[in-house]
Amino acid sequence: MYSPLCDLLNIQYPIMQGAFQWLATPDLAAAVSNAGGLGTISASLYKTKDELLDAIARTKALTDKTFCVNISMFPEVVEGEATWDFIHACCEAKVPVVELSGREPKEFVPVLHEAGIKVIHKSTAVRFAKKAAAAGVDVVSVVGFECGGAPGNDDVTSMVLIPAVVDEVDIPVIGGGGVCDGRGLAAMRALGAQGVVLGTRFMATQECGIHPNFKEKMLESNELSTIVVQRSIHFPHRNLKNETTLQVAELEKEENPTIEKIFPYVSGKRQKACYDSGDTEGGVFPCGEVVGRIHDIPTVQEVIARVMAEADAVLSALK
Ligand SMILES: Cc1cc2nc3c(=O)[nH]c(=O)nc-3n(C[C@H](O)[C@H](O)[C@H](O)COP(=O)(O)O)c2cc1C
Repeated sequence: MYSPLCDLLNIQYPIMQGAFQWLATPDLAAAVSNAGGLGTISASLYKTKDELLDAIARTKALTDKTFCVNISMFPEVVEGEATWDFIHACCEAKVPVVELSGREPKEFVPVLHEAGIKVIHKSTAVRFAKKAAAAGVDVVSVVGFECGGAPGNDDVTSMVLIPAVVDEVDIPVIGGGGVCDGRGLAAMRALGAQGVVLGTRFMATQECGIHPNFKEKMLESNELSTIVVQRSIHFPHRNLKNETTLQVAELEKEENPTIEKIFPYVSGKRQKACYDSGDTEGGVFPCGEVVGRIHDIPTVQEVIARVMAEADAVLSALK
C-alpha cells in the first residue's frame, strides 16, 4: 500500500509507534524503525538534555532508519520545564522527526525546521490540528476517543475526528485511536489519513519493556476493559480498569476532587514502579479500547508485516 507519507518521512510503511511514558525506549523505537515503521522515543523518559542526547545516540546505534522523538509539552504536570532543552537536543543530534504535543507548536517549528527536522504535531481536536497546520508543522497525528492515554476533552471518536481533520488541513494526517491491524489501516486510509499510529498494539509486543504481567492482563481484557478518568483535573486518560484506576474513578465522584487528591494515584513514579515490578493493580496503565482485539504477543516486526498484508488483502477484497 503506497502512501506519500512514506516519502515525506523516509519510512517504508505508514505505521507510527505512539509515544509512551516510560515505555517508548530506544530499544522499542529502533525495533519499530528497523521493521519499516516510524519508531518513537519519549523525551519524557529523561530529565535533562544530556540524558535525551544519550538516548538519541543509543537509538542511532540500534537503527540507521528514520525515528521520531516525542516531546509532550505539559508543563503543568511535568516537574520543571525541559521543553526547550529537548528541542535543542533534537536539533543538535539532528533527529529525523520530532512529534510535539500538549501546547501550540508555533515557536518550536522554525527552530526544528532550521535543523532539517520534520515536525509532527499530535492533536485530539480539529481546532488544534488547524492551529498546528497554520504553525507550519509537516504532519498532524490525530487520535480519537478510543485511544489509550490522553484522548483530549471532547470525546470525539476516530471515525468522525480523523476525516473531520483531513477535511480541514492541507497537510498529511496520521490517524489513530483504535487501530491494531490491517483492517484499521485500510479504514484510516479510507477516512483520508495517510498513515496510522498504533499505541496499545505495540504495548503487547515482545520488544515492549513492560513487565510480562501487564501483557498477560491485556490478553485477558476485552473492549469494555478500559475507562476514562482524570476528567476532574482536565487531563483525561483512558486506562485499563484496575484497582488504582477504579479508585481514581471513585474519588472523582466526590464534589471538588483536587489535583492533590488525584495525583498520588496517577503519578508517574508509581506507574513506573508497577511497570517494573509487574504489579498490575498498584498504578494506572494507559490502554486503548482496542485492547479487546489483541490476542497475542508477537514481535514488532510481525505486527507491522501483518498489518501491511492484512490491509492489502482488505483493499483487494473491497475491489
Ligand atoms: C501505555 C501508554 C502510554 C502512553 N503515553 C503517552 C505519552 O506519554 N505521550 C503521548 O503523546 N501519548 C501517549 N500515549 C498515547 C499513544 O501515543 C497513542 O496516541 C495511542 O495509544 C493511540 O491509540 P491506541 O492505543 O488505540 O492505539 C500512551 C499510550 C499508552 C497505551
